Amino acid sequence: MSTKMPSSSTRLALAFVAFKLLLLGAALFFISNLDAQTFRLSPKQEADVETLLDRMTLQEQVGQLSIFTSDWDVTGPTLRGGYRDDIKAGRVGAIFNAYTADYNRELQRISVEETRLKVPLIFGYDVIHGHRTIFPMPLAEAATWDTAAVERAAQIAAREASADGLHWTFAPMVDIARDPRWGRVMEGSGEDVLLGSMMARARVRGFQGTDLSADSTILACAKHFAAYGAAQAGRDYNTVDISDRVLRETYLPPFKAAVDAGVATFMTSFNEVDGVPASGSRYLLTDILRDEWGFGGFVVTDYTSINEMVPHGVVADIRGAAELAIEAGVDMDMQGATFHENLVSLVEDGEVDKATVRNAAKNILRAKMALGLFDDPYRYSDTARQRRYVLAPEHRAEARRTAAKSMVLLKNDNATLPLATSTRVALIGPLVSSQHDMIGAWHADGKGDEAISPEMGLKPVFANVSVRTVADFGLDGVAKGEARVGFAEAIAAARAADVIVACVGEKADMSGEAASRTNIDLPGEQLALLRELKKLGKPLITVVFAGRPLAMPEVDSISDAVLMAWWPGTEAGNALADVLSGKVNPSARLPMTFPRSVGQVPLHYDQKNTGRPMDAKNKYTSKYLDQLNTPMYAFGYGLGYSQVDYGQMTASAKAFGDATPLTVTVALTNQGKYAQRETVQLYVRDSVALRTRPALELIDFQQIDLAPGQSKTVTFSVSAKQLTYLGPDGKTPTLEAGDMRFFVGPSSDELQSTLVKYAPTKDTQPAATPILPTTTKTSTKRPNE
Ligand code: NOJ
Repeated sequence: MSTKMPSSSTRLALAFVAFKLLLLGAALFFISNLDAQTFRLSPKQEADVETLLDRMTLQEQVGQLSIFTSDWDVTGPTLRGGYRDDIKAGRVGAIFNAYTADYNRELQRISVEETRLKVPLIFGYDVIHGHRTIFPMPLAEAATWDTAAVERAAQIAAREASADGLHWTFAPMVDIARDPRWGRVMEGSGEDVLLGSMMARARVRGFQGTDLSADSTILACAKHFAAYGAAQAGRDYNTVDISDRVLRETYLPPFKAAVDAGVATFMTSFNEVDGVPASGSRYLLTDILRDEWGFGGFVVTDYTSINEMVPHGVVADIRGAAELAIEAGVDMDMQGATFHENLVSLVEDGEVDKATVRNAAKNILRAKMALGLFDDPYRYSDTARQRRYVLAPEHRAEARRTAAKSMVLLKNDNATLPLATSTRVALIGPLVSSQHDMIGAWHADGKGDEAISPEMGLKPVFANVSVRTVADFGLDGVAKGEARVGFAEAIAAARAADVIVACVGEKADMSGEAASRTNIDLPGEQLALLRELKKLGKPLITVVFAGRPLAMPEVDSISDAVLMAWWPGTEAGNALADVLSGKVNPSARLPMTFPRSVGQVPLHYDQKNTGRPMDAKNKYTSKYLDQLNTPMYAFGYGLGYSQVDYGQMTASAKAFGDATPLTVTVALTNQGKYAQRETVQLYVRDSVALRTRPALELIDFQQIDLAPGQSKTVTFSVSAKQLTYLGPDGKTPTLEAGDMRFFVGPSSDELQSTLVKYAPTKDTQPAATPILPTTTKTSTKRPNE
């Protein structure tokens, strides 16, 4: 068989095309690696780190591997010499819970002026959803589905924290959470892998920016690695027992997204994975994190989690725990003093290689170098920046916008909301005047008395607001009768009003760390209060402040409108007034399923079909005798004040392969009189695969703004790569030929669908699973245009 040679002009053209492709390839490589460059040091900086390590004694290297809380004498294991002596002796690498420019400047001064090698300290803190200006709790931020807003919130938090002397936040918490009994659901982005990954990336970018040495950026920390959210029975710190497939498909992707975004640090989790506590898991910390993902930052443990490997039962004593942790890949021991007290002798006794210690110290020194601390250790201790940025008015304004965007309208019968500002409002419930609860369980330096309560927010907006704080949360041993004190006055106030706005829910300390609950109903006597109010026959608007999804079927049925307000942060009351008055039209969507009752938990939208999917007519199918399978409010659900109609969805072809992406299109029209932000969601179901797939999986979404009467066409571009799952080996992204059903709609329980065939191009398979979707586009037109 003869092969025809191309002509010279064709060869030239081909060479040109090849050159162009090379350039494009180089550009794409650069773009795709841009994020991960955050932590890259110059050759000179790398050499400086090595030189410093050469000069350090073993004790000094070990010193870098400990972080202690600034008040450790009170709350944690005590250092033998007291912290100033330990800093002076070079036995501390980082301090947490210490902030303000002046306080940290003094500690830094000891480290860089009174130690032999003058190595600066890193100051860390839990800046979870704001430093002093508190934004909505992270789960609420995720309810915005607005990654740009979430990135801005993290950026503001970093600007305030860095101005207050901090270099490092222990955030983002990227644990997928599917059990609302677990109090820490408030700290993450909910149940979904895609949304969780997008939020992880946004937060890392927000905290770290593109230059860690800038004085307004701080190190981020992806935590808690890994699978902390899978704690059995939703009980904090409990055992985790999941398959490697579930670990990799559900719990790891947000961590991988954080690595891809260039996250500088990781924190281990308290729990075990496959019988090994995370702080001792070489599989997690080295095989996956370093070897598979190429993470180049440093790993800190959670608080005393190395010590806790003794009660976990994998080591007999603290010395054994320290050895297990350092060998697994831990670089820094938080508060446990296990490295502090054992590593030198472990090396001297030949149990731990000194290269392992050097490597851990190197990971930490590289981060200090990236922060620019060797150039100017006081860069973050600047009282002028502190005065300028901490609680700056523009930060509060952004917190107010984000809070309003995070409130999910769950019910709005008869257009009860929005309310005219002339409405006479009875503001009733245990949370109406609370400032402190508004900033939630993790509020860094946020101050309750700087927060806006519902009362403070509503009074200036509505002409006539009567306020009654009433009903108890039932946690403090208050008897039913006592908890109902004040009901009569509240009802009298409600009688004189046009509408009732009841502010109910949880107190801030009812969710967060160590705040699991077995009952996720509205606590205490609050439902009894709502029942009494309902009897008045006035419009009842229930506003729920809580750190988790609550089970509230009766709240739904007796309220005319229900607004999930979460913990909205410093600007809570103002944001609430914005939404209730219609100044802001709600657009948030649930990032986590709300069950009907705790008995359904864990309930998440991407469940498997099972071999016996629910069939009401057949007893022997997967269901309950006493409860529906469906949630009270589904993942992705949320209303606005305008009705948005979806047209018929279309797919660009009946079949697609690896070369050409499929496009899925749907037209929307805003039928209401308010401008509406709509979150259009795209789900898929891989009908037949070698491993069972969820009945629904979110693969993309778009947020579009629709003026009253406006129509827009939304187009999703879907590549085969986006649809892969981990094949039979549990690792390789795979997609077999066959039917894929695509679903589009405003919520995971309100979808239309179309079936398309995937036919792989011969001998090719989609290379990798991008967790994050490709760009999509929207076209605009008014009806009748
Ligand atoms: C324990 C928590 O689990 C973790 O999230 C936090 O960062 C540390 N304590 C430090 O406060």
